[in-house]
Amino acid sequence: MLGLQIPCDPQIVIGAESPLRWPLERDPFKIGNRIAVQPMEGWDGTADGAPSENTVRRWQRFGRSGAKLIWGGEAVAVSHEGRANPNQLLAAPRTQQKLAHLRSELRREHIHTTGSDDGLVIGLQLTHSGRYCRPNEQSRPEPRILYRHPLLDRRLKLAPDYPLLTDKEIEAIIEDFHRAAFMAWQMGFDFVDIKHCHGYLGHEFLSAHTREGRYGGTFEGRTRFLREVVQGIRSIAPGLHIGVRLSAIDTVPFHRDPSQSVHGKPCTGVAETHPDLVPYRWGFGVNPLDPTDSDLSEPQRFLSLLEELGILLVNITAGSPYYNPHVQRPALFPPSDGYLPPEDPLVGVARQMEATRELKQRFPNLLIVGSGYSYLQDFLPHVAQAAVREGWVDFVGLGRMVLSYPEMLWDASEGAQMQRKLVCRTFSDCTTAPRNGLPSGCYPLDPYYKDSDLAEKLKEAKKR
Ligand SMILES: Cc1cc2nc3c(=O)[nH]c(=O)nc-3n(C[C@H](O)[C@H](O)[C@H](O)COP(=O)(O)O)c2cc1C
Ligand code: SF4
Repeated sequence: MLGLQIPCDPQIVIGAESPLRWPLERDPFKIGNRIAVQPMEGWDGTADGAPSENTVRRWQRFGRSGAKLIWGGEAVAVSHEGRANPNQLLAAPRTQQKLAHLRSELRREHIHTTGSDDGLVIGLQLTHSGRYCRPNEQSRPEPRILYRHPLLDRRLKLAPDYPLLTDKEIEAIIEDFHRAAFMAWQMGFDFVDIKHCHGYLGHEFLSAHTREGRYGGTFEGRTRFLREVVQGIRSIAPGLHIGVRLSAIDTVPFHRDPSQSVHGKPCTGVAETHPDLVPYRWGFGVNPLDPTDSDLSEPQRFLSLLEELGILLVNITAGSPYYNPHVQRPALFPPSDGYLPPEDPLVGVARQMEATRELKQRFPNLLIVGSGYSYLQDFLPHVAQAAVREGWVDFVGLGRMVLSYPEMLWDASEGAQMQRKLVCRTFSDCTTAPRNGLPSGCYPLDPYYKDSDLAEKLKEAKKR
């Protein structure tokens, strides 16, 4: 018995009565239903940062999902140096028209599914990858870090004198965010997400307790980046709304314990902790006295700040795919470079749901999207409906499920036959592929990938 609290409706309600179809109006937003598509990157842009055919197809499928809230599409870098991989999309004058095409294709498919684009809200997720930059070659990390992290620096093999981003360089990055947001506004996006999650730069600011100078130390210093990004966007793109995706809870990095590895096969993940590192000063949403546990006090303060800044759209996620993937995307099967889950993946689902519920209760005026539901598989519609109905969350965000079965929640609330063979089973190939330099996609279930040369290449890569 896991003793978890997860709401679950036995019957799915169909049509306009379905909680998943309830519209949500809160000035200035009118969002047509409670289904959201999470940002899902494909590692499949061109070398100069434009979308490829695969990218366009993914965005069309986002549209076909019937979701009325599209949270950012995928991570789009604000500068070449800030890209997480050489195929990440880039907001630049040369890519602008093609990025705009993604939005219009998504909208077209959305109208095809739902009959209209009333209440459709589309954002663009803007990012700088910070510690996880790999702009030029998949095999060459080029980290840009804000402070020395005793565990992550070691993992990235960074020398003790590895340079930190200077305040001047940070100011230039803030201007990149302004430029990228202005482009998004010109392209007709309704909002931009100033990404603060998953270990990337925005998230690293929040844990920069040990950084000296204007952008670290106190809560005020650690949130200065956000405030300056927001201030600039408001002055140059006044009609553009702003959202924030936040890793609201976190824990220490996990790794596979090599002493337990059999024939190089993944083994259970273990937490990297050390008594010398307590109180823990290198995390956000982490309990400093027991860093294996989360602590919502600073995230609550952060959400209060968002309210003060007039930011209503908030997307709650957790942890990082780089240092504790079982927290961020609960799965039964790890990616090739991962570890077996150290807990029942349902515990991970419940953890994100509970944190989101607590934040929703404290901040009823914010429009909150929840994450990490895909492991629920066939139960996802039942849990999603109950979570919205009971007010745990305003929008249920679909991540991996949207790669395998984009229409899942639309079908469920339409009363259509569920396509069980498309239900994401958390095989993690969509993560294994990019870790091996291949585009991401649902290789096991989506015929587009399953029957392609890429599937052969992935098979070969897994054998290596
Ligand atoms: C292949 C892949 C790509 C992702 N790309 C992004 C991204 O670009 N931006 C982001 O904020 N999260 C990204 N995520 C995280 C998801 O948005 C989501 O938080 C996570 O998969 C957990 O939700 P789920 O259980 O519905 O999959 C990605 C996840 C996967 C598996
Ligand atoms: S590869 Fe497909 S089934 Fe596996 S986790 Fe990704 S979306 Fe789900």
